[in-house]
Amino acid sequence: MRSKLLVSAATAATLLLAVPAAAATPNPGATPTPGAPGAGDPYYPSYGDGGYRVTHYDLRLKYQPATDQLEGTATLLATATQDLSSFDLDLALNVSEVLVNGHPAKFTVGDVHKLAVTPQQPLARGSRATVVVRYAGVPSTVSTYGFDAWLRTPDGAVIADEPEAAWWWFPSNDHPTDKATFDISVLVPDGTQVISNGVLTSQSSKLGWTRYEWRQNKPEATYLATLAIGKYDISTGTSPSGIPVLNAYSPDLGDNADSARASVERTGELVDWLAGYFGPYPFDSVGGYVPNVPTHYALETQGRVFYSPAQFAHGANPSVVVHELAHQWYGDSVSLQRWSDIWLNEGFATYAQWLWSEHEGEGTAQQLADYVYSSHPAEDAFWSVKPGDPGADNQFDAAVYDRGALAIQVLRTTIGDEAFFKLLKAWPAEHRYGNGTIAQFQALAEQLSGKQLDGVFQTWLYTPSKPVLPAAGVKAQ
Ligand code: ARG
Ligand code: ZN
Repeated sequence: MRSKLLVSAATAATLLLAVPAAAATPNPGATPTPGAPGAGDPYYPSYGDGGYRVTHYDLRLKYQPATDQLEGTATLLATATQDLSSFDLDLALNVSEVLVNGHPAKFTVGDVHKLAVTPQQPLARGSRATVVVRYAGVPSTVSTYGFDAWLRTPDGAVIADEPEAAWWWFPSNDHPTDKATFDISVLVPDGTQVISNGVLTSQSSKLGWTRYEWRQNKPEATYLATLAIGKYDISTGTSPSGIPVLNAYSPDLGDNADSARASVERTGELVDWLAGYFGPYPFDSVGGYVPNVPTHYALETQGRVFYSPAQFAHGANPSVVVHELAHQWYGDSVSLQRWSDIWLNEGFATYAQWLWSEHEGEGTAQQLADYVYSSHPAEDAFWSVKPGDPGADNQFDAAVYDRGALAIQVLRTTIGDEAFFKLLKAWPAEHRYGNGTIAQFQALAEQLSGKQLDGVFQTWLYTPSKPVLPAAGVKAQ
């Protein structure tokens, strides 16, 4: 059980903290105003803030598993997108101090996860600001919207959830349109390990405490940042094409231990296989972790997937690994512009599972599409959820996944395999490390196929009833 967690002994590159803040004088004639309360998402209007963007998060944390006490100093490198008098951060822990460009700022705790910050000097549009937040709390006691995403384990804790997870452990502009790089440094008692996104750049021990430093050097949405603290068996290697792989398993997975390993150890092989459909893997390392948690879901936390052990309760499940790895292109590298575009994530991750099924000589994508269509009678509530705009309450409804993948099969048969497989690669290439909408995806599909696709998108993504299928099946559009 020796930890091989240290994959790179390279010294951490100089932090960006030394960047001088530009003069915080507002543009002449403009009156600084507060950032819009929320990034403008129709499903989650209060998430994020409209007045600034973050380019980098530097998190310096200390965690005590015995008490679930978390202390942190977060340094955010931000840029004001307007002349800004005040702004919000999303955070649900207790704050003791906020500094903006080195000066103490006024702060007030607002609605559940909102921290309002008023700097001494307004920030000029386009200027960079360094925002330091000192905070602490017991995340397992924090409930917002009736739930707590921070999961304690017998020897630590795990955070991985969607669409919100960040405010249980760091202050952020919590919307996928504001992606940033991350340095995550966590101090834990000796013998406890820390797993996060990206690459481990340093591990050192002093006076009974060990510090782990992880770096994600590609843009990452805030909800895709993850932390697993506790005891883990680590396995490292490379994919056949050379991508560094790091997987971690709780030693206490019981009956699920073998099937978890039999599945997650295929990460390297499967990520290379998916690159054949989606183009080059977008990140510097890949892997997954399986903590001892009672939840059932898996989540595509960037470059280091979270798997509940329950995913492996019925034996090896490489299909869920395919799903979560597909999200690395569809969801992580290319993130949602609005949460209502969730089909771009879940439809494609599910379709990747269909391609895998076909590859394995099991059901073909066409057969699985036919099965989804025929197994839900017209009166089934399944058809009342629009995959292209399911509503916040149905974001992870089966319709988004299964009808969503069915829609992709219809699209494929409509535009033909040549245009379709070009499209699967073109979308992640065009929007790499950015964001996209369904409308933009449709436009790209139209451009690559030369076909007008309003009918297909309207019928399969935006109609709250079972579409009528011509006699020949899904193919006959
Ligand atoms: N994106 C996740 C998936 O791969 C959905 C997880 C939703 N569940 C949750 N408890 N947050 O399907
Ligand atoms: Zn998914």
